[in-house]
Amino acid sequence: MKKTIPKKVKGKKENKKLWGGRFKASGTSAAESFNASISFDKRLYRHDIIGSIAQAKVLQRAGVLTAKEVTKIIKGLNSIQKEIETDKFCFRTVDEDIHMAIEKRLTEKIGALGGKLHTGRSRNDQVATDVRLYLKDEGALVSKAIKDLQSALISVAKKNMDAVMPGYTHLQRAQPILFSHHMMAYFEMLKRDAERLGEALKRVDVMPLGSGALAGSPYKLDRAYAAKLLKFSKVSANSLDAVSDRDFLIEFQSVASIIMVHISRLSEELILWSSSEFGFVEISDEFSTGSSIMPQKKNPDMAELARGKSGRVIGNLVSMLTVMKSLPLAYNKDMQEDKEPLFDTVDTLKAVLDIFTPMLKSMKVNKKRMREATAKGFITATDVADYLTQGGMPFRKAHEVVGKAVAFCIDKGIELSDVKATQWKKFSKSFGDDIIKVVTVDSSVKARSLYGGTAPKEVKKQITRALIELKKK
Ligand code: ARG
Repeated sequence: MKKTIPKKVKGKKENKKLWGGRFKASGTSAAESFNASISFDKRLYRHDIIGSIAQAKVLQRAGVLTAKEVTKIIKGLNSIQKEIETDKFCFRTVDEDIHMAIEKRLTEKIGALGGKLHTGRSRNDQVATDVRLYLKDEGALVSKAIKDLQSALISVAKKNMDAVMPGYTHLQRAQPILFSHHMMAYFEMLKRDAERLGEALKRVDVMPLGSGALAGSPYKLDRAYAAKLLKFSKVSANSLDAVSDRDFLIEFQSVASIIMVHISRLSEELILWSSSEFGFVEISDEFSTGSSIMPQKKNPDMAELARGKSGRVIGNLVSMLTVMKSLPLAYNKDMQEDKEPLFDTVDTLKAVLDIFTPMLKSMKVNKKRMREATAKGFITATDVADYLTQGGMPFRKAHEVVGKAVAFCIDKGIELSDVKATQWKKFSKSFGDDIIKVVTVDSSVKARSLYGGTAPKEVKKQITRALIELKKK
């Protein structure tokens, strides 16, 4: 595709910087490319243009531009957007960043009038505005993707209401639970993630224009009008703060990191559960890969990658915290380092969420294997102890009695469900014939019927609440 490089742009004079006035020599080409951010901040073009259109309108209100001039500027900016979107725009290192590239192109297109657009504005408030606009858009997409994943969890939970599996602590079989209960645990995590994201996005939703380079602006810029045009809820209250903090994007990255930690834990479980040792689930072919050497292999690569990618998202957070921690107010060029990690986090998070939702929905659940796993490991031992306490025995004593019963089973190579009532009575006089029913997995699960427990009735309520919550948002 032919790029629009007007002949004159190729000339020496036009390669001059927009800030070139006080310089005698231009930077070396190494310095120029070291300094440039255009290769990655070009993705902010749309937000930069929206911001510039708002700036032009604000300048009209301030009496700096006439209505005619604003129309011309807007037309110019829109045609630049078209050039970019039809791949005709030439991004050049010499233009340093997206802000200067667009301003320069505007001047090429509409002449000296283009140079009026930057009145009362600095790239410092411009870039803060662009990134906030970008994050508002992306935040809404992430929020929707979280919801989709939550729905997937609910549908997996609903589809497998009768699946009982061992619940684990220390990765040792602990107590039987419903598989649906386990799925809904992740729903809760994501629910908090969505809330955290919503909170973080409130602090993204603040409009910096009018802060200038750092001290504010002497022009009569109607900042509230700019906020309205750009659909920001608030106007920043301190010009220094507005151009010099990136806490809003650090907060977003911290939310993203927590989401990734949750997804990484789910990934780890899916990976374990897909192994022959567990055999609890089978990830569908569409979301699995094979081995180049071992023909029998079916690997859960998507889950492994999601687990791995949590590393880079957490890394991006740490990277931004480290960049910001010692910067004096106000703007410092260090802050240009904010974009790549932010973009990477947004891209990674969206990709992971988008893979996980269909992967979960198409996953096969092996209820038989899950139930078989509950048959071993004395998984209802706590229920036996609870039985004894109901007869008045202190829990500590009951724990010891059942511990002895477990030791007996280990010796004999049997399970608690194999122990006869006569044998139970030898462990304690408090045992009656009904103990036989207590040691079953289903009665154990059914007994945990407090709010938030794993009893089928309760899990059904959890799911109903979850469905209502999802609809609310
Ligand atoms: N490319 C710069 C950044 O991303 C834009 C702001 C530059 N401001 C400046 N005073 N050099 O941070």
